[in-house]
Amino acid sequence: MQSFVYHNPTKIIFGVGVLDRTGAEASVLGKRALLVTGGGSIRRSGVYGTIRASLEAAGVEVVDFSGVEPNPKLSHLRQGIELAKSSGAELIVAAGGGSVMDEAKAIAAGACMDSDFNDYLTGKASLSAALPVITVPTVAATGSEMNGVFVITNDETRVKNGMAHDLVRPMASIMDPATTATIPLDYTVLAAVDIVSHATEGTLTQTDSETPLQDGLADTVVRTVMDCIQRLMADPGDLAARTNMMWASTLAWNGLCPAGIGPWAKPCHMLGHPIGAMYNTLHGATLSIVTPAWMEHQAEIDPARIARWGRSIFGLTGGDDRTLALTTATALRGWYQNLGAPLTFAQAGIQSPDLGGLAERSMNIARSKGEDKGWSTATLRSVLERCV
Ligand code: NZQ
Ligand code: ZN
Repeated sequence: MQSFVYHNPTKIIFGVGVLDRTGAEASVLGKRALLVTGGGSIRRSGVYGTIRASLEAAGVEVVDFSGVEPNPKLSHLRQGIELAKSSGAELIVAAGGGSVMDEAKAIAAGACMDSDFNDYLTGKASLSAALPVITVPTVAATGSEMNGVFVITNDETRVKNGMAHDLVRPMASIMDPATTATIPLDYTVLAAVDIVSHATEGTLTQTDSETPLQDGLADTVVRTVMDCIQRLMADPGDLAARTNMMWASTLAWNGLCPAGIGPWAKPCHMLGHPIGAMYNTLHGATLSIVTPAWMEHQAEIDPARIARWGRSIFGLTGGDDRTLALTTATALRGWYQNLGAPLTFAQAGIQSPDLGGLAERSMNIARSKGEDKGWSTATLRSVLERCV
């Protein structure tokens, strides 16, 4: 195991019926909240009304900012920053999925900046302050409720990239698994794909092999999600499965699983984000397309970690590491296929993908994260060719 620092200050309030505690958490942070929401699902489900009532009962004035889209866009984010500034919001409350939480974090930081937020996204400005953020996640997928990550798409340049900053880590997250019961099954599937990816990219790309605890944590998250989604396929209203999946999504991406594994990379997210940016493809779908292809590519270079994962998750036995890694890619494709997640660009509705453009954008992400070792635009393109 390697040395590490793990510091995660987000307070979690978890359980069915906890939404009415939002106001109490918010009122210690400010008296006027920008309430950031998406396209209307939580208004229809009643979640919005409960949160708003809780905030107002605690003496927190609410300023509404709705309309965050999946793959949240810079143009909409800029409107939120303007509203946060002009309304004098003292805190940001995000109620929705990862897109809402991510845009809310960016608004929190942008509200304390003089320059345009794209200056930060392109490395020309840094963050020095942010309004406090509270999240109320209504999708179990991204883990945004307990990390400092936010992923924004510049809708002019069609560049999507994840940023991370401690300043925007939520102060508290109010997590009621019952809020996720209204998510359609096909989106719940893509959420499961995303969680599995979060709990997998570290363990598949690390080089230290003396990490039995971390391997076990990450693999348990994966097994839990695989079990939950199987149950939800049979009964989308299975609240116990929704509950376990929600906590698994948080643990998959809050830094706990990879603490101590040393350097690791996110090749599948690096390959997936440009697909989301160029074709507005849902995040989980980008991952089910690229992940088996990346595994097949990696099997020829360094198959040991994929082979370990395949043995642990799918019970694969026999063969050398390369063979096992290739079989793992096939087994993962089979899992996606059973769930109905797309395996190719065409299955995701992308008939003529611009593989060169996608590879270039992935290469730019790799460089910006210092994860470009072993990659070139040509090798990235060769992985994408496997997804056609
Ligand atoms: O906008 P509304 O009407 O709310 O509809 C949303 C949206 O259409 C709907 N939804 C949300 N809660 C619902 C619901 N429908 C019914 N019942 C509910 N309770 O779900 C749709 C998808 O919402 P979205 O927020 O986009 O989903 P998700 O949580 O999967 O977030 C995806 C975004 O997060 C980024 C992704 O790239 C993508 O932009 N990620 C963020 C990460 C992070 N912050 O750590 C890490 C991830 O790897 C990921 O990149
Ligand atoms: Zn993800």
